Amino acid sequence: MSSELPESALPPPTGANESTSGPSRRAVIATSAAVGGVLVAGATVLAGSEEATAVGAAPSSRLSLTVNGTRRTVTVDNRTSLLDLLREHFGLTGSKKGCNAGACGACTVLVDGHRVNSCLTLAVRLQGAEVTTIEGLSEGDRLHPLQQAFIDQDAFQCGYCTPGQIVSGVGCMEEGHTGSAEEIREWMSGNICRCGCYVKIVRAVEQTAGRS
Ligand code: FES
Ligand code: FES
Repeated sequence: MSSELPESALPPPTGANESTSGPSRRAVIATSAAVGGVLVAGATVLAGSEEATAVGAAPSSRLSLTVNGTRRTVTVDNRTSLLDLLREHFGLTGSKKGCNAGACGACTVLVDGHRVNSCLTLAVRLQGAEVTTIEGLSEGDRLHPLQQAFIDQDAFQCGYCTPGQIVSGVGCMEEGHTGSAEEIREWMSGNICRCGCYVKIVRAVEQTAGRS
């Protein structure tokens, strides 16, 4: 039995005339590249149009709520967080975006008197709600007693966590969790201070709650 392949099974020699039987390899490669380019370009265009459609079709809702005593009505993308609503739509930048994931408490505000992480709260769920931010605690130039206590106790360093700490402290007092320094620490534990001002923060809450 011969070990040689029949001639028809062998590739044409380099430089052989390829135009005599169907498209040349060069033509096939060129055509493939062109088709591939069209497909890639088509995919890009398709992805772009899908994205445009998705953005254009993002559902939105009309929402009315009260923020720091002022009635506000706004139409927002349903995915908007309360934190972004406050900061980006209402210009209330006192509430800070630390982690944007519910882990630091820098965004704490009061909703109907209860502490919430505004970064995790969808704005559209707050139809008719009463929201209080750090901007709403003082009365004109008169600071809230806890704001004054933070100054008295020197309870901040960089200040980034401070709005959330103060609003959380107000909530903590209204909830009645100020029976001891340990209790305050426990119920304020969702508010992280990277500067480590915890001892003074607890003292400020104690001072305001009338425990010191
Ligand atoms: Fe909301 Fe950190 S920014 S918990
Ligand atoms: Fe800097 Fe608390 S004062 S993070």
